[in-house]
Amino acid sequence: MNEPTNWTQVQTRPILMIPGPTELPWPVIQALNQPPTIQYDRGFDENVLEPTTLALRDVFQTKHEVIVMPGSGRTALEAGALSVIEPGDRVLVVGAGQFGLLMREIMNRVGADWTEFPVEWGARLDLDRLAREAERLRPKAITLVHNETSTGATYPAAEVGKIARGTGALFLLDTVSSIAGIDVRTDEWGVDLNMTGSQKCLAAPLGMALVSVSPRAWEAMERRKAKAHSYAYDLLRWKEWWIPASRGGKVPDGTPRRQPVSIPTHLTDALRVATRLILEEGLSKRFRRHAVAAAALRAGVAAMGLEMFPDASIVSSTVSSIKSPKGVDTGAVVQTMRDRYGVLIGTGLDKIRTTTLRIGTMGITASPHHLLPTLSALELALRDLGYKAEPGAGVAAAQKTFADNS
Ligand SMILES: Cc1ncc(COP(=O)(O)O)c(C=O)c1O
Repeated sequence: MNEPTNWTQVQTRPILMIPGPTELPWPVIQALNQPPTIQYDRGFDENVLEPTTLALRDVFQTKHEVIVMPGSGRTALEAGALSVIEPGDRVLVVGAGQFGLLMREIMNRVGADWTEFPVEWGARLDLDRLAREAERLRPKAITLVHNETSTGATYPAAEVGKIARGTGALFLLDTVSSIAGIDVRTDEWGVDLNMTGSQKCLAAPLGMALVSVSPRAWEAMERRKAKAHSYAYDLLRWKEWWIPASRGGKVPDGTPRRQPVSIPTHLTDALRVATRLILEEGLSKRFRRHAVAAAALRAGVAAMGLEMFPDASIVSSTVSSIKSPKGVDTGAVVQTMRDRYGVLIGTGLDKIRTTTLRIGTMGITASPHHLLPTLSALELALRDLGYKAEPGAGVAAAQKTFADNS
């Protein structure tokens, strides 16, 4: 028998079609290739860091402060939680997947008296029941993962925001896999802390944590009985040390200020460029591009005879979770796609690791340029693993969706 052909012979790295970190636009990569600057130098602080945080307000759709810090999505979630929650505070955590559980664990660590509102993985959220639970508990905060990356499901953050407002709770929203890919209306939805990371639909490198802070969230921090237990990630220090008085902070305008934690200069510059590219594209066009790419993906996998994991009414535009065909090992699909065809996708997480596959359409990967080769590689890998489907059917269906929506 012939040796199998290695199609990735001259490819130095697989294309990243995992749900983050994602591929970077070339201008963002170029922004990383600079000599070091000093983070407390006024040139960086005033000409790079500050304009980036101000431009990010448009991406977050907020009029309030957006804080950027070294870290990842988890850093943003933990910084948000530890800044507003004191030991013993009641928190209602919507747990619809692996990242809801992460929020629960973070609340546990900050000493919250948390109650989980469990949602079956991939299922819709029962808003009436959630409203009743919020009314019963009267929590200090309600937390939601807007887009559950583990199940590829998007939850109705606007509605949960209304429930939070109605019960006087702070609304803490994880937008790690939605911001800049799915419409996120921070102020309109009453989000008090919008917490995310740089490496997904923002299409910036991994390494920055981002949090927008509402006036209600600042008040909650200022009313604390004791200071937050973290020094580096206490968000209130941004108000005290960095935000000028003219924007509601404590630093007299025109006087020197300090960053509460040293800000990585290269990553901020890359985030500056990534933010510029997002705003140049325009939010509504960008959301539509993600929605069409995910629809093309779903058309492709349906044509291959595969099913999506979540309820059809809540499928995500940025992360698609697909049921693996019976008897086909998800680890083998990922490995074959990467090693033979040069495209990296993910398996599911935790209890759906061996039964689902996950593909990201995030930032520049929400495009025919990235998605069509991914579907092609999936078809080829599944055939290698013994799954029978019409060759090219998935790619053709996806291509038709792109053509019909161009
Ligand atoms: C919804 C969600 N929340 C939180 C996280 C954790 O973020 P990070 O890996 O950047 O710490 C992730 C990561 O995939 C995520 O998708």
